[in-house]
Amino acid sequence: FPKVRNICCIGAGYVGGPTCAVLAWKCPDIKVTICDLSQPRIDAWNSDTLPIFEPGLSEIVFEARGRNLFFTTDVDNAIAEADLIFVSVNTPTKTSGVGAGVAADLCYVEAATRRIAALSRKGAIIVEKSTVPCRTAESMRQILSATSPQEGAVFEILSNPEFLAEGTAVEDLLDPARILIGALDTPRGQLAQRRLVEVYANWVAPKNILTTSLWSSELSKLAANALLAQRVSSINAIAAICEATGSNVFEVSNACGLDPRIGSQFLKAGLGFGGSCFQKDIFNLIYLSTSLNLPEVAEYWAQVLKMNEWTKSRFTRGVVKKMFSTITRKTIVCAGYAFKKDTGDIREAPAINVARDLMEDGACLRIYDPKVTAESIHESLKGFTYIDWATASAAGPWDLPQAGTYTICPSLDAALVNASALLFVTDWSEFKGLDLEWWTATHAKMTKPAMVFDGRDILNTAECAHLRKIGFGVEKTGVGHAI
Ligand code: NAD
Ligand code: UDX
Repeated sequence: FPKVRNICCIGAGYVGGPTCAVLAWKCPDIKVTICDLSQPRIDAWNSDTLPIFEPGLSEIVFEARGRNLFFTTDVDNAIAEADLIFVSVNTPTKTSGVGAGVAADLCYVEAATRRIAALSRKGAIIVEKSTVPCRTAESMRQILSATSPQEGAVFEILSNPEFLAEGTAVEDLLDPARILIGALDTPRGQLAQRRLVEVYANWVAPKNILTTSLWSSELSKLAANALLAQRVSSINAIAAICEATGSNVFEVSNACGLDPRIGSQFLKAGLGFGGSCFQKDIFNLIYLSTSLNLPEVAEYWAQVLKMNEWTKSRFTRGVVKKMFSTITRKTIVCAGYAFKKDTGDIREAPAINVARDLMEDGACLRIYDPKVTAESIHESLKGFTYIDWATASAAGPWDLPQAGTYTICPSLDAALVNASALLFVTDWSEFKGLDLEWWTATHAKMTKPAMVFDGRDILNTAECAHLRKIGFGVEKTGVGHAI
């Protein structure tokens, strides 16, 4: 394999876009072409408003774009020119057929693989960047060998899973905890692996570039996400005990996390985890365990998801209970909709469950999020009645004709007029540190008794006490009332 000079990335999504933009920025001598079948997505990457929001990303794209970074829908040409091809397409959970609801849908990976087989140059290195079930590289190899027009073609496939988290993608890519590259233990496999190591070595320290077997690399990605999600479910289980015993989960997680064997990260209790990866990848692991006839292992991981579902619905049940067991036609403000701060992504966001459950119980919901688009909110709440802001804001308390509706609000301040409750659903920094004056004015404009439900550790203990003094009813997930 020659040194890598021309890279193609198939899939311009949350992973393909940022990873290859950073790669192009860090390696000006390598031409990087990111391609996608979606014309609107590529148009957005080529415009002033990128299709995804990530802190620091637009600066990098604007500097590298047109220099050695290109976005195109001409997938075929990008494949044909490349000496290394990242496959960064989506691998969602199957919704029908064999393995529906648990197995990964590999149709996009297979379609991309077939295009590569048809068009790639001889000796091009293929890299699995998508999160895939263990041994997917073997299926890709078989498809490539069987369908390539090249006589006796041998394709080298590497596994290079992505560990970036949304909201901190650029930071994670510039300074990764590790880069993992799996390859077959053959001279060709090792050489291909070395070529990809050389690319990353342009900005990542050698000690942070890990080389393993193909199968360990594929499985490590699923394992890492499962372990992270398991910590979140574990602390959410403890949170429920804290509420019932008058203890504080944030004190408990701090006390536990100071033990270096446990560590402090990913122990924040709240509404449960969201995002496109955790649930999907655990389902993947459950499906794998079941197919390997390991039902106890499957059950163990299934419990992590079960706890997460329970955590989301527990929050909503708590809201209803504290509001005199009826929220019919009460105006409730959902502060934040994204699955975490610093992203506009709502895939698997707990906010969706909360919004749907509250509307089913008759609430008139007002949603405010600084980055989530109205289109994606509508998409997630299909079947519910939308009332535009002009109509909703003109109505007095209790005036809305219909229970179980939602409105998208231009600001948090506007949303709170005549509202009965404020719910912190996403941990946006702008919700933190709101001063006493703001809270006093907010209390004055809300319907009494005014409630605040903090599902995202927005308020500290002193703030909770201040708010109660002002007259708010305050409930914080994981914090029990002293008994
Ligand atoms: P995404 O849906 O945002 O992007 C995937 C893109 O691939 C889409 O734009 C789609 O149009 C395109 N695509 C699909 N088939 C194609 C084809 N044949 N040719 C060209 N383009 C094609 O998905 P994502 O969030 O970027 O995730 C991609 C993969 O990375 C998944 O396997 C995911 O599990 C994994 N991953 C995601 C994250 C994350 O934070 N989102 C982190 C780590 C790993
Ligand atoms: C995750 C992994 O962190 C990343 O390594 C992988 O590549 C993709 O999946 P992401 O889903 O983008 O990243 O965000 P992450 O920061 O992991 O948060 C996932 C969810 O867990 C969010 O809803 C977040 O609010 C929640 N979470 C996280 C908690 O509730 N408590 C915590 O302590 C940490």
